[in-house]
Amino acid sequence: LTSYKSVGIDAGGTLIKIAYKLDGELQFRKFPVAEMTAAVTWLQEQFSDAEICVTGGKGKQLHDLLDRPIHTLVEFDATCSGVQYLMAGQQLPADPFVLTNVGTGTSIHFVDKERHHRVGGIGVGGGTLMGLSYLLTSIQDYAEIVETARRGNRQYIDLKVSDIYEGTVPPIPGDLTASNFGNVLKHQETRQNSDILASVIGLVGETITTISVQAATQNGVLSIVYIGSSFIGNDVLRDTVVNYTILRGALPTVLQNGEYSGAIGALLAVSI
Ligand SMILES: Nc1ncnc2c1ncn2[C@@H]1O[C@H](COP(=O)(O)OP(=O)(O)OP(=O)(O)O)[C@@H](O)[C@H]1O
Ligand SMILES: [Mg+2]
Repeated sequence: LTSYKSVGIDAGGTLIKIAYKLDGELQFRKFPVAEMTAAVTWLQEQFSDAEICVTGGKGKQLHDLLDRPIHTLVEFDATCSGVQYLMAGQQLPADPFVLTNVGTGTSIHFVDKERHHRVGGIGVGGGTLMGLSYLLTSIQDYAEIVETARRGNRQYIDLKVSDIYEGTVPPIPGDLTASNFGNVLKHQETRQNSDILASVIGLVGETITTISVQAATQNGVLSIVYIGSSFIGNDVLRDTVVNYTILRGALPTVLQNGEYSGAIGALLAVSI
């Protein structure tokens, strides 16, 4: 049995993310918060002698169950340090950027080398995606939501600028969404779950992008780095955010393994 020296944990509102190293290589694991006791059992088995560093909103709850001494780290410090570690490893430029973490909710930061500060956030995030999807279609499995959305068509649910400016030249690109869900009352034909879910993801993605682009403009940077589990396996959200960010004139990066940034930051704090 391998004996690990250190482990970093980010216990968020929805998912517990865990990072550790095996033969110098980063390893990742995640558990739903709803299965925290299973996570604790696994952690006790794998990391009986390790230094543990915990971050995230559910960190206190996890610590109580772990019932042993741990280190803790402020969530935003952990996240930003993990992001910089991943970016350096992926040869991404170290210029200042806006960081958008799409977790249960969405948090936005300005990051520049050793400095970072939170510039804002919104309640529209991965939790919104899950909640609205369930209310509108009764589907609550994340993978099923994304899979279904992939086949969807937003045309009869969302209203584009070109729908309003029918037959004339609009003052802004016609492909922009004029009103998310704004086409619903005009098209009363039965709607597929796939179409509804595509529009839910569109709403979340466009809202996140809009506020990120504004944060970038306000802070005088072009680059926006997106992280968070809401992008896991979710090419619909990813494509929406990437395309919409480019359309708005900024430079998007959806960071690979970005959902583990907090856990990596926590791990770095207890690794020597
Ligand atoms: N297996 C999964 N189960 C549930 N949600 C998932 C899963 N995979 C991805 N998600 C999406 O990821 C979101 C949670 O993202 P993330 O893990 O980054 O948030 P968190 O850290 O738990 O929350 P916060 O940072 O807001 O406290 C969910 O709301 C959902 O949209
Ligand atoms: Mg989080």
